[in-house]
Amino acid sequence: MQIFTDERAPDAAFEVFPDTILTPIPLGEIFARPQPVEVDLGSGSGQFLIEASQRYPDHNFLGVERLLGRVRKTRRRAWKLGLQNLRVLRFEIDYTVRYLLPPGSIWRFHLSFPDPWPKRRHQRRRVVDQAFFEAVHTALQTRGELWIKTDHAEYFATIRKLVPQALFHLAEWVGDDYPSTDFEDLFALKQLPIYRLRLLKAN
Ligand SMILES: C[S@@+](CC[C@H](N)C(=O)[O-])C[C@H]1O[C@@H](n2cnc3c(N)ncnc32)[C@H](O)[C@@H]1O
Repeated sequence: MQIFTDERAPDAAFEVFPDTILTPIPLGEIFARPQPVEVDLGSGSGQFLIEASQRYPDHNFLGVERLLGRVRKTRRRAWKLGLQNLRVLRFEIDYTVRYLLPPGSIWRFHLSFPDPWPKRRHQRRRVVDQAFFEAVHTALQTRGELWIKTDHAEYFATIRKLVPQALFHLAEWVGDDYPSTDFEDLFALKQLPIYRLRLLKAN
């Protein structure tokens, strides 16, 4: 197998480089300890991942982010802090949830401030659709959860309408003890409303 320079950097151990993308990633092999896995979809520069993995050392945290610079920033910070319960994967959210996470393996998904693609002609680029909910449901373990936060009222209303009632129950928000994300801080600073949704796997 070809080794890229980036894979030899000292912080490379904090990034997941799957041997194949044709089968799910063996999560037991990428984390130091077997413990509940939380996945941050679109983890950006990693503020949430870094702080959550410090606050909850008895959980494993996997970030999924497609932008190279943001993945590098995350893994550099994780390496400096020696966070053995944090890993980041540079990949598309959609493909990762559908094909790279073993069925029944995830305790909680976080989707924080997904790109809203406000123009109508761009809306098919949105991450949340019916197939997304189905894939999340499959990847979640029994009683697993999906937490969504957005500043975008129309996207939030659309997401709520799309939730398949047979797959998820709506639950009270309990996430205030979790760290905030980069974007959450920006919107809070501007005193803009933030919409939150907590969904529990139904069966
Ligand atoms: C608006 S930012 C929010 C970042 C972070 N969750 C936060 O709340 O600060 C959305 C992030 O998701 C990433 N992203 C958007 N679509 C993605 C996709 N399909 N696959 C992987 N990453 C994606 C973007 O690169 C960006 O870093």
